Amino acid sequence: MEWIANEHRYDAMQYARCGRSGVLLPKVSLGFWHNFGAVDDFERCREIMRYAFDQGITHFDLANNYGPPYGSAEQTFGRLMDEDFRPYRDEMFIATKAGYDMWPGPYGNWGSRKYLMASLDQSLGRMHLDYVDLFYSHRFDPHTPLEETLQALVDIVRSGKALYVGISRWPLEATRFAFRYLRERDVPCLIYQGRINLLDRAPIEEGILDLCREEGVGFISFSPLAQGLLTDRYLNGIPEGSRMSKGKFLRPEMLTDEVLQKIRQYNTEAQTEGLSLAEYALAWILRQPGVTSVLVGASSTGQLERNLACIKS
Ligand SMILES: NC(=O)c1ccc[n+]([C@@H]2O[C@H](COP(=O)([O-])OP(=O)(O)OC[C@H]3O[C@@H](n4cnc5c(N)ncnc54)[C@H](OP(=O)(O)O)[C@@H]3O)[C@@H](O)[C@H]2O)c1
Repeated sequence: MEWIANEHRYDAMQYARCGRSGVLLPKVSLGFWHNFGAVDDFERCREIMRYAFDQGITHFDLANNYGPPYGSAEQTFGRLMDEDFRPYRDEMFIATKAGYDMWPGPYGNWGSRKYLMASLDQSLGRMHLDYVDLFYSHRFDPHTPLEETLQALVDIVRSGKALYVGISRWPLEATRFAFRYLRERDVPCLIYQGRINLLDRAPIEEGILDLCREEGVGFISFSPLAQGLLTDRYLNGIPEGSRMSKGKFLRPEMLTDEVLQKIRQYNTEAQTEGLSLAEYALAWILRQPGVTSVLVGASSTGQLERNLACIKS
């Protein structure tokens, strides 16, 4: 039976303008790095995605190598498009990226024109889309001329395969160069994706967030909950089934005494304000001038529901 989205889906969400652009993004966006691979239960993926869209989340963030295995998060997304979301395509802002290890050999990684162009074609195939709204260079490549990577982004927009482009995890001076290069070719950088959270403020300290504000480029924060550390998940140990218990990207040794002490301190501060730690952590990021959206992950609709409370904080 055809799925019908909630008619009240836009009632509670707040949207922020993405830099100096025509695009509004929800203050909370959903990422597909974990929980949407072929290893995950498809019905659970569908439940999270439907719930997100019903709550006014319109921005979905993918990358070529999200899974596992690589590519499978985009395939899950493609199936969701076919089975549920095709009628809502114009209400969705869909991003993908290339920049990390994707296929073997010299052309499946980093920032060459060869890799970016081929990767986007593959992503569109897996996601069953004609175009994405946003395509990112996923990381800075110190060995490829910046002009080559950036011109590939310009040409991707001109080809119609992406409406906007962004960069992720680029260092400050290369970012400044990128913003200028893209603007001069009438393909302004829409957004910078970097990690800002209570435990890691590097883009603030390094001047990236200020640069984005000055240049009218939006900023979206990935891992805003430090992969779950900034929730109640690890306050009393490492629960079964948690990302840390799987140990690949969030390893038990990252939960040092110092980190645990900080988390408990933030939790106390959150409680005095009547907030959960997750709500407090997300609201803090959204208060930073220049931040457009927080890009959360969720392994259940319950987590997403609790995290969405930050919008009211
Ligand atoms: N540009 C880049 O290089 C880059 C890098 C990393 C991520 N990203 C993007 O950012 C997105 C989000 O990253 P992330 O998944 O690390 O974000 P996150 O929001 O910091 O962490 C999400 C994880 O924390 C746990 N969690 C979330 N809410 C919770 C709650 N209320 N209570 C308890 N646990 C909770 C869940 O893990 P468990 O339930 O599994 O424990 C969930 O999967 C990614 O999907 C991706 O799109 C981009």
